[in-house]
Amino acid sequence: MPLNVLVTGASGYIGGSIVAEILSLKRGGSLETLSIHAAVRSLEQAHSLTKLDVSVVQLNLSDETAVTDYLLSNDIDLVINNATSIDSQIASSLISGLKNQREATGKEVFFIQTTGLSAFDENTNWPFGEVKDTDNVFDLERQSRDTYVVREVDTFVIEQTKKAGVTGFLIYPPNASLTGEKDATLAHVSDVAKFYGQLIEAIFLGKELPVGENGHYFLVSHVVSWWDIMDRLAANLHARGLVTTASTKHVELKAS
Ligand SMILES: NC(=O)c1ccc[n+]([C@@H]2O[C@H](COP(=O)([O-])OP(=O)(O)OC[C@H]3O[C@@H](n4cnc5c(N)ncnc54)[C@H](OP(=O)(O)O)[C@@H]3O)[C@@H](O)[C@H]2O)c1
Repeated sequence: MPLNVLVTGASGYIGGSIVAEILSLKRGGSLETLSIHAAVRSLEQAHSLTKLDVSVVQLNLSDETAVTDYLLSNDIDLVINNATSIDSQIASSLISGLKNQREATGKEVFFIQTTGLSAFDENTNWPFGEVKDTDNVFDLERQSRDTYVVREVDTFVIEQTKKAGVTGFLIYPPNASLTGEKDATLAHVSDVAKFYGQLIEAIFLGKELPVGENGHYFLVSHVVSWWDIMDRLAANLHARGLVTTASTKHVELKAS
């Protein structure tokens, strides 16, 4: 299946890593016929990508008409949105553009939303404790959509893709947060990008995948104790003569 992919937030950390991963899969032959379109905000960002084998576009993602025109005139059938996980207007115009593309071509179209595991963090008022991506994540997020904007947008994406006849996926890289948690869930950005590459290959090959209300994917490669991270940091700072002791201790915020 030929695929034309639009990557938003393409000059950002995750979007840029995804573009690099797709380019490497294209060179390797598995996605040879796929073409990459990179959406950026500024001229400077556009210039930074022009030397790559990608079509760069400065696109106002909130402008539904401009987005639809671009998707239709470039035959885009897959959008990966890495620009923001807190703006339903942007998700809405991208999904609506894909709906128009499906109606114009009769082809299946795909929307991948990059969101984040902060949606399931007690610091964001997540009330359901530990959850797996094989649980009924859609239903749980929907029940707590009003207390955190990321959950609200996640739920919106699933509802809108279903309504629009767009095949939807929600991808959750970990958000390492320093507050509260004893452990940090982590994944290296290159592993995160590899996951997107594998997902695109699977879509490209027409594999059957969990999608829509079941299409939640948590990206966690390992869990690290924050104390282990702080101990290593302290040892290295001490080795460089930047602090007087190599040990760590707990300090209340008020006292610090
Ligand atoms: N990095 C992580 O560890 C992590 C973990 C979990 C989830 N996430 C989620 O993954 C997504 C990407 O994160 P990231 O770390 O790659 O962020 P990033 O480096 O800031 O990249 C985001 C890119 O999107 C662009 N952008 C932001 N708002 C936009 C808008 N309204 N319209 C068009 N472009 C816009 C930014 O442009 P400017 O440079 O002009 O602002 C930037 O190039 C975010 O939704 C984030 O919440 C990230």
